[in-house]
Amino acid sequence: MFMKRTIAAVTALTLGAGGALAAEAEGHVTDFKFPFEGVFGKYDQAQLQRGLQIYTEICSACHGLIYVPFRTLADPGGPSLSDDAMREYAASFEVFDEEIEDFRPAKPTDHFPAGTYPGSPDLSLMAKARAGFHGPGGTGLNQLFKGMGGPEYITSYLLAFTDETKDEAGTIYYRNPVFSTGWSAMPPQLYGDDVEYADGTEATAVQEAKDVAAFLMWAAEPKMMARKEAGFISVMFLTVLTVLLYLTNKRLWAPYKPKKQI
Ligand code: HEC
Repeated sequence: MFMKRTIAAVTALTLGAGGALAAEAEGHVTDFKFPFEGVFGKYDQAQLQRGLQIYTEICSACHGLIYVPFRTLADPGGPSLSDDAMREYAASFEVFDEEIEDFRPAKPTDHFPAGTYPGSPDLSLMAKARAGFHGPGGTGLNQLFKGMGGPEYITSYLLAFTDETKDEAGTIYYRNPVFSTGWSAMPPQLYGDDVEYADGTEATAVQEAKDVAAFLMWAAEPKMMARKEAGFISVMFLTVLTVLLYLTNKRLWAPYKPKKQI
């Protein structure tokens, strides 16, 4: 009886403490599901196109994507725009050409321009920069155990704005519990119905946030699918090699091992 009660008490304590720790450390980042998670996960072309639409219509007003060349928008595995659509899209941006010392419409080989809004970070690598800090004490354990990373952070960040603002030396800050300091210089952007999706998907705030986060994951890691495939093939190869080596080893040593006595 005593044993039973002690075990129950210890279990309750551990579970309680674990729960509290998780709640405190999670920083309100929610574990959203994305189609590219897991060993066989793939980017969803339609989602990347919707994310590109959100970036274009909303985020590009402030944020740049300077490491992303326009031509990659037509690559397989990404948003996969048609060649014509990609060229047309690129031409809708203006880039500064040092040769003619003037602005001109962008070509497929150009990169997205830099952002112009003061203090807005470039978003090319943001999905990777914000990966891996979730978990108790910022240990990154949530990435290891739950696969939570940059896209979950970005989605949560975009949805976490409250209505609170504060004015500090002339700069307005917006309350955002997911943001590192709790107050972001970025005004809230997504309320739902901020765009009309070309593919007819309902533009709820969560949908918009997830779509743009998925697009930013692709921007940061366009070759994720190829990498996963190569990884899977390597593991298969190593497994076969291990079995062969084991059998070879047995065979090599067989003459020197004493036979078991019966
Ligand atoms: C009005 C300009 C503006 C718009 C529009 C805007 N942002 Fe921002 N964004 C900012 C600024 C400024 C910061 C820097 C915030 C800070 O450091 O306090 C920022 C920061 C960020 C961050 C980094 C957060 C972090 O952890 O450091 C992400 C991610 C982000 N924005 C995503 C987006 C996305 C996605 C959109 C489009 C839906 C968007 N932003 C639209 C101005 C903007």
